Amino acid sequence: MSNPAGVAAERIPRHIAIIMDGNGRWARERGLPRIEGHRRGSEAVRACTAACIKAGVSHLTLYAFSKENWQRPPDEVKALMNLLDRFLAERTTEIMKRNIRLHAIGHLDDLPANTRRRLDSVREKSAGNTALTLTLALSYGARTEITDAARAIARAVRDGDLDPDALSEETIASRLYTAGLPDPDLLIRTSGEMRVSNFLLWQISYAEIVVTAKLWPEFGEEDLFAAIREYAGRHRRYGGI
Ligand code: FPP
Repeated sequence: MSNPAGVAAERIPRHIAIIMDGNGRWARERGLPRIEGHRRGSEAVRACTAACIKAGVSHLTLYAFSKENWQRPPDEVKALMNLLDRFLAERTTEIMKRNIRLHAIGHLDDLPANTRRRLDSVREKSAGNTALTLTLALSYGARTEITDAARAIARAVRDGDLDPDALSEETIASRLYTAGLPDPDLLIRTSGEMRVSNFLLWQISYAEIVVTAKLWPEFGEEDLFAAIREYAGRHRRYGGI
């Protein structure tokens, strides 16, 4: 049985992670301000989320704002936060209608207080939804995440709650922001850049990587399905033969 992505249902990745890149270039190519690229990028988020549900992907994680992105010009940072705010305000009905559970990872305390409140409210409201877990990585950095986990583990050892000899990969995974989420099966990066940019470094150990030349604002349902087909055609060996 083939599903809308054109591959057998059992070959659909359970978890797709995306580095959404190229908003600025998309705008520049059209003589538009960078923020217009981000605005179109947030529309692509909506299309991609709908396409994941259509294809039967149960987890989608989007790199929406990195720790490093705070270094962008203040106007651009402010505009990105406004877009996030608007996305949360305007998409709540759709999130509920589509049965999406909204989740977020990263240093969420760095977000403006009103955005943080809105985020928490949509997360709470959608917590019981089951069609797709949409995780937004916000003020996220993978090295920071691993450092935070190491700190939590060191504290647990110091307090006598954890035996260092009993420490396992699961101990570490359970202290990452992504605790409880499956590892991504497929990592997509748009705009042709061959980098992982400090995104989910622990979790993508065995992910298949698909890089597309498409810029994020023009990444649509067919591009997502094409990436899924490429994934489905690969043979994952996990270090075996
Ligand atoms: C990269 O493009 C994109 C970002 C830094 C932010 C991604 C944000 C969005 C898609 C919109 C808001 C998201 C949500 C969830 C509402 P870039 O600016 O680095 O592009 P460039 O490399 O071409 O300059």
